[in-house]
Amino acid sequence: MTSTAIEGLTQTRDSINVDDLVEATHHVSLDEQIEYLVRNRQDISITRSRNRPTDLTGTDEEGLAFLPESSKRRMVADGVDISHGYPEVPGRSEIPVYVDQAHAIRDHDMPFTERALNADPQKKALLGAAEEVHNLTANIGTEITGLQLVDLTDEQKDELALLVAERGVVFFRNQKLPPKTQRDLGEYWGNLEVHPQTPHVPGLPGESVIWVDYWRKHGMNINFKNCNYGNFDVVRYGSVGNQVWHTDLVHERQPAGITHLHLDAIPEVGGDTIWASGYAAYDKLSEEMKKFLDGKKAVYVSAHSYLDRDDPFGGRKKVERVHPMVRTIPATGWKTLFVNRGMTKRIVGLTPVESDVILNYLFDVYERNADIQVRFNWKSDPGYGTSAIWDNRSTQHRTIWDHEGRISRHGTRVTSLAEIPYFDPDSRSQREALGLPITKEE
Ligand code: SIN
Repeated sequence: MTSTAIEGLTQTRDSINVDDLVEATHHVSLDEQIEYLVRNRQDISITRSRNRPTDLTGTDEEGLAFLPESSKRRMVADGVDISHGYPEVPGRSEIPVYVDQAHAIRDHDMPFTERALNADPQKKALLGAAEEVHNLTANIGTEITGLQLVDLTDEQKDELALLVAERGVVFFRNQKLPPKTQRDLGEYWGNLEVHPQTPHVPGLPGESVIWVDYWRKHGMNINFKNCNYGNFDVVRYGSVGNQVWHTDLVHERQPAGITHLHLDAIPEVGGDTIWASGYAAYDKLSEEMKKFLDGKKAVYVSAHSYLDRDDPFGGRKKVERVHPMVRTIPATGWKTLFVNRGMTKRIVGLTPVESDVILNYLFDVYERNADIQVRFNWKSDPGYGTSAIWDNRSTQHRTIWDHEGRISRHGTRVTSLAEIPYFDPDSRSQREALGLPITKEE
């Protein structure tokens, strides 16, 4: 847009005739005027995020000043140029202002190869090379020791993809993992997700930075009391940080498959993450409830907010997408309950009240059953980082902010987008497939 009238919107009140400006703006649509303002006025946050306002874009010198030493060492060792700042925020011209712009990102078919389908079901190459393989709970979570992710062969990567699909999440402590290797691994397992707003490692789009301390410096109001709440007034009291149970990127046409979070700055105490199994959540349901949900669809929303072009003063809007509530995971063929409190908003075909009652119950199944969860403390030896690699299709997760930012916590996350979610009526639940007992209700 080149209109001088619109350019006038960025001038100071004293330097322009406001009546002329008002008259001139009648010739430009309201949505264009607003977009122009948001993109060009440095004092307006380019995001519509209450907790993660971004007025600056590009590499951040101030961020670099408090980047933990261990994270800095990891970046520099991999040749990442942090001399201009850290992290790198996408440019003001790239961040979507309107929800239709965000919806258009990756709104097309992307070929996806399920690497786990190439794997030896016994996973001999991976497990045979490990020092120890330890299931942390019966239903979810396995820790592998004695392997460096950087050294994995393609055969081992395929087997790891299968293990992740079966166990939900797999952990590796004491890793030396260059950011570029983490990104390459993500590209191997699916289509690399490049977020339009989230800061990334400089020069490495797709290598997203997970760093709550950074947002606190930029005005995120997170404290001991509010770190775990959120109520129906999401505009004022939405949850902060990553404490609410969620599954990443469910608003995508092809949502997240494997996600890999590597922490290179780990609090001495706390900062754990909890995952819960969607296979097991599904198997917790009565057989009648399973039948009711099989084939149902729901509306899934983005974590980030945008404006509605047709109603720009109507408040924040999220990207919405419809997916099956019970989906079949191609790697295992098992059914999983694909809902989460943070981002599943409505069951298609039910009244809003019916939908709320059922969704709240389903969220509780995930959140209240400790026997389908694993809580992981990230501790590694000094000089090393820890990786968690999980299947976003069949799990939910949440962070615990008990360290209250007193000690740095920093990591990088790479997400591999997978298939368009589908429900195969002939697929089986995990317990059916494994021959475990399933209680039938009378
Ligand atoms: C996330 O929600 O993906 C981040 C989890 C964490 O920081 O523990």
